[in-house]
Amino acid sequence: MANGPAETDSRPDTRPPQGVFASHAMQRVLRIATEAAPSGIPVLITGESGTGKEVLARIIHDRSGRPREQFIPYNCTGTTPEIADSQLFGHRRGSFTGASDNALGVIRSAHGGTLLLDEIGELDLRIQPKLLRMIENQEVQPLGQPRPSKVDVRILAATNADLDEMVRDKRFREDLLYRLNIIRIHIPPLRDHREDIVPLVMLFLRRYAGEQNKKEIRLSGDAIQQLLERDWPGNIRQLANEIRRLVAFAKDGTLITPDDLAQSTASTGLPRSENGAGARSSRDTVTISADQPLPAALEEMERALIIRALLAAGGRLNAAAGRLGVSRKGLLLKRRRLNIDALLASK
Ligand SMILES: Nc1ncnc2c1ncn2[C@@H]1O[C@H](COP(=O)(O)OP(=O)(O)OP(=O)(O)O)[C@@H](O)[C@H]1O
Ligand SMILES: [Mg+2]
Repeated sequence: MANGPAETDSRPDTRPPQGVFASHAMQRVLRIATEAAPSGIPVLITGESGTGKEVLARIIHDRSGRPREQFIPYNCTGTTPEIADSQLFGHRRGSFTGASDNALGVIRSAHGGTLLLDEIGELDLRIQPKLLRMIENQEVQPLGQPRPSKVDVRILAATNADLDEMVRDKRFREDLLYRLNIIRIHIPPLRDHREDIVPLVMLFLRRYAGEQNKKEIRLSGDAIQQLLERDWPGNIRQLANEIRRLVAFAKDGTLITPDDLAQSTASTGLPRSENGAGARSSRDTVTISADQPLPAALEEMERALIIRALLAAGGRLNAAAGRLGVSRKGLLLKRRRLNIDALLASK
């Protein structure tokens, strides 16, 4: 059988996810996203600010089989309904004063691919019926164009607003919510999946040290413990920014201690962890989800300890093995078995 031309960019992405999905809760999020990806059905992604809604939307797109570069995010915030209308649906030249050229609009420019409607709760009520028609009929009618044009666009929507409440308050159309809400994926706040904090720290340390050309930057056990105990109201984005800042101020070979964190705690107004006299020994604690079978819980604990030792040793295997009381070879084998490198796959 003759081989056809390679269509590399329209095959679903089977690489490890771009990001950290180590905890039970985030593995579940990733599993639902992966299952939903090829279907073409709208997906509504909800979660607080900075939890990774756009990251997840991209993963859904990458695993959908649609051409990889054809992912268009559109932010529904902060524009007039007239501008949103023409940005989304396009217009014909001369269709209103100032329309000096034809405009394709983001929906048609996403043809064949995926459109992420970010902050969908901000979409003006006057535009919502037009979007509903587009989703129902897979066609758009640009301003000034006599007939609608057919489009093939996968719709993803993201929001940190409570759309159900907005429907009750008549600020969001119920029929549109039904259309968008066929599959809903909620990403929990970081404080509810703290098991991901250490792998995230490791990923961000590697990323920002690489970007800023810094070498051997490590965190002390106490510093890691403090990061584990914070509430992170700005979620993963806030953690990423914190690590970026720490790396920016660190010299090659620095061991970051709780003192280095204290400054940012003061500046962001976050609660300090309470490790007063008599409190449990902070550096010897790992947090794992109790809601899982014993073998999975043991694996999670092993993974958390290994990642933490690697982090404290600045990624040096011998030193990490020494801390854990295992041989270098044993650590390498465990790292492979527990899939630690794949979990830490960076962007
Ligand atoms: N699972 C993850 N692994 C690694 N990094 C992540 C993950 N999720 C989010 N991030 C990082 O956190 C930051 C925020 O992610 P993202 O923009 O997707 O959040 P969001 O939920 O869309 O936020 P907002 O509501 O403010 O728009 C980005 O820098 C992103 O790369
Ligand atoms: Mg976002």
